Amino acid sequence: MLNNLNIIYSLATEQDQLSIVGLLKELAGDRSNFDIARFYVAKDGDFLVGCIRTKVFVSGTRELASLAVNKNYQGRGIGSELIKKLLLTETFRPIYLLTSADKENFYKKFDFNIINPLELPSEFKKEYEKIMGLPFAKDLQVIAMIIK
Ligand SMILES: CC(C)(COP(=O)(O)OP(=O)(O)OC[C@H]1O[C@@H](n2cnc3c(N)ncnc32)[C@H](O)[C@@H]1OP(=O)(O)O)[C@@H](O)C(=O)NCCC(=O)NCCS
Repeated sequence: MLNNLNIIYSLATEQDQLSIVGLLKELAGDRSNFDIARFYVAKDGDFLVGCIRTKVFVSGTRELASLAVNKNYQGRGIGSELIKKLLLTETFRPIYLLTSADKENFYKKFDFNIINPLELPSEFKKEYEKIMGLPFAKDLQVIAMIIK
């Protein structure tokens, strides 16, 4: 049973790396440009149940990326809490993200708004175009969002 959860949120450490990679593999999360120092994690005791990071591009553009919560722990506010912690700790703005249109309302709760992909910084626009070129993107409406 997962009642009475006591989830602890913190910056990731080197020891969390394998668990983060495992979770991201399982949920098809972004593992590119992996930098453990930029991850935040959610843990149930020693068990890593969620992660998030800002991915920093060479130009300095920030992306909220690699948000993932273990399937058995989803729908309990852990994803929301990870976003809140990240936005509190990371004061740099703007932060961008790419997601599927069905998650627009979820991110709107944290003050992200839709942005026209044409207005994305060039390096991040390339990322968007790369995703749009993937086979699954045809069935998925990918949107770009920004928090200023
Ligand atoms: C998205 C994810 C991180 C949410 O984590 P969580 O701990 O379940 O989030 P919370 O319990 O805080 O909130 C759940 C919210 O996610 C939304 N959500 C989750 N999956 C969704 C989906 N496929 N479509 C639409 N909304 C979705 C729910 O609508 C809910 O919003 P609500 O609070 O307005 O009802 C989790 O479902 C996950 O890991 N999914 C797989 C990986 C993924 O999609 N990552 C995001 C990439 S942009």
